[in-house]
Amino acid sequence: MGIMTSSIAKKIAMALSALFLIIFLLIHVTVNILSVFSEDVFNIASHFMGTNPLIQFGMQPVLIFGVVFHFVLGFVLELKNRKALGVSYAKNNGAANSTWMSRNMIYSGLVILAFIVLHFIDFWFPEINHKYINVLPEDPSRYFEELQHKFVSPVRVTAYVVAFVFLALHLLHGFQSAFQSMGMNNKYSKCVKSFGKAYAILIPLVFIFIALFHHFNH
Ligand code: HEM
Repeated sequence: MGIMTSSIAKKIAMALSALFLIIFLLIHVTVNILSVFSEDVFNIASHFMGTNPLIQFGMQPVLIFGVVFHFVLGFVLELKNRKALGVSYAKNNGAANSTWMSRNMIYSGLVILAFIVLHFIDFWFPEINHKYINVLPEDPSRYFEELQHKFVSPVRVTAYVVAFVFLALHLLHGFQSAFQSMGMNNKYSKCVKSFGKAYAILIPLVFIFIALFHHFNH
């Protein structure tokens, strides 16, 4: 019973961290899409996000914790599942009773993890360096140029686009699975499933659009 409850607790924790990251993605894509419409508005929004103490020292650490928590618990659950499959009498019968996406969450997750590492090297570390290590003077109009510069290289743009496709695959299963783990099973389940599918396709598509837009318009 103890093992059962702890495994359910882990699944719920995984689902909650997933929902938190889903909300983060929505905020992130909203700020980034501004760069397509207006250099100035994007600079204002980025300057605000990058210098507001509540966001920098309140939300940012929570976000980083959420990302690490989700990855670590994802690995733990995957290892547990593999162990359970090894001794279980009812083996998962592959394609017969699950989707490709659901069976390969660990692999789509690993591609996203690799992307996050690249993405942090591209954007986050230079930001931390600029603000807190070298403590360079703040130029509120620097953000747009820095972003555009990152999408000049076709190799980087390709890596980003491939990662966004994997993000879509991850979300296609992950979104509805998170609600299921939290015990949602009522007349709204179908609605949540459809909304999850739309979200899983639309958000990565907008990210792809932003990357390609800056690649072809620098
Ligand atoms: C075209 C697509 C994207 C662009 C242009 C972009 C741009 C940026 C920029 C400029 C920052 C630095 C923010 C700062 O610290 O000042 C950032 C941070 C970050 N990005 Fe992205 N991003 C994109 C896609 C993604 C995706 C798909 C994910 C998640 C799967 C992601 C996750 C993060 C995270 C976790 C951070 C650190 C947040 C923080 O500042 O604390 N990004 N991104």
